[in-house]
Amino acid sequence: MAIQSGLLRYARNDTEEAMSLYPFLRPLAFALDAETAHRATIAALRAAPGRKPPRFDPALTTSVAGVGFPSPVGLAAGFDKDAEVTGPMLGLGFGFVEVGTVTPLARAGNPRPRLFRLVEDRAVINRMGFNNRGQADALKRLALRDRSSGVVGVNIGASKDGADRITDYVAGVDRMSPVADYLTVNISSPNTPGLRELQGGGELQELLAAVQSARIVGGPPVFLKVAPDLEDGDQERIARAAIDHGIDALIVANTTVGRPPLKSRFAAEQGGLSGAPLGPLALDQLRKFRAIVRSDLPLIAVGGIASADDAWARIKAGASLVQLYSAMVYEGPGVARKIARGLADRLRNEGFSTISEAVGRE
Ligand SMILES: Cc1cc2nc3c(=O)[nH]c(=O)nc-3n(C[C@H](O)[C@H](O)[C@H](O)COP(=O)(O)O)c2cc1C
Repeated sequence: MAIQSGLLRYARNDTEEAMSLYPFLRPLAFALDAETAHRATIAALRAAPGRKPPRFDPALTTSVAGVGFPSPVGLAAGFDKDAEVTGPMLGLGFGFVEVGTVTPLARAGNPRPRLFRLVEDRAVINRMGFNNRGQADALKRLALRDRSSGVVGVNIGASKDGADRITDYVAGVDRMSPVADYLTVNISSPNTPGLRELQGGGELQELLAAVQSARIVGGPPVFLKVAPDLEDGDQERIARAAIDHGIDALIVANTTVGRPPLKSRFAAEQGGLSGAPLGPLALDQLRKFRAIVRSDLPLIAVGGIASADDAWARIKAGASLVQLYSAMVYEGPGVARKIARGLADRLRNEGFSTISEAVGRE
């Protein structure tokens, strides 16, 4: 109860106060197992009264694939899987929110425990396995939201792990397009057996061709989210396939199955690693994609971003937008607004008048 009411107070508070409260709330949240803390946070955010998004510095306004973003700092997929708290997260200062992954039918995901905080490493390992209540459930809530209150992308996946997964992506495009400001085709979660094989040559072509033919005129742009665990040559093949099939942006990257040196006792847990130790790998992959696509295909950077310096480095390396998830666990939800402010300062200090001018200028 103390935690619930603490989180509720936190969710109700102004972002400034939220930032200063978080160091006190963090030990409460960390006393719970990670998934219970996450559920409590969602419940508290749902209960909190609605708050309008902050007014961002106009220099942060940017447009990607025809969508206007008030700030380039977004919430990555996986936090709000079932589209329960898009309004509160926009209110906390995320320039956009990506919900999902949602699959056509509900999925229970893997047995618990399946989410681990690696506190010493400022990292997270998860093997959630696409747990979600299904697209119809998310659709209900998204259909009711006020679209003018901010940008919400919908990340789609497959209900089953079998061979006819492509049908599920097509169903996701059909069903979720009317409520999405953009769609993300997620073929890169490491916790769904065989999913990342969709990044391979023939399968990727087939998937992207099917997605392309499911799109309707006037529908939302479609982004493709890739894994950071790629071999040299994969980037060229994926980027070409994406461009050939009209993908509007690449999101680089999902969690890694790799294990850089880690201190936490959870280091050997199976699943995808995110947070600080993923940063260098995600940045490296971003640079590789940028060298191939140049300005032909926008890139969205995610993985280990926790500060304005991190976000600025990704923008200079070629990202038009950034997203984060794990940093929120350690820094609190005010982190997005703090990064947005830091980015506005950096723009001015380095003589740029907009984010898009700074993209790829390292
Ligand atoms: C608990 C958890 C669940 C996630 N679930 C999804 C998901 O459903 N779909 C997806 O595309 N990415 C998912 N991700 C990956 C994030 O969107 C992001 O790509 C990754 O965590 C790296 O960013 P970060 O270091 O800022 O956390 C998840 C990450 C975490 C930590």
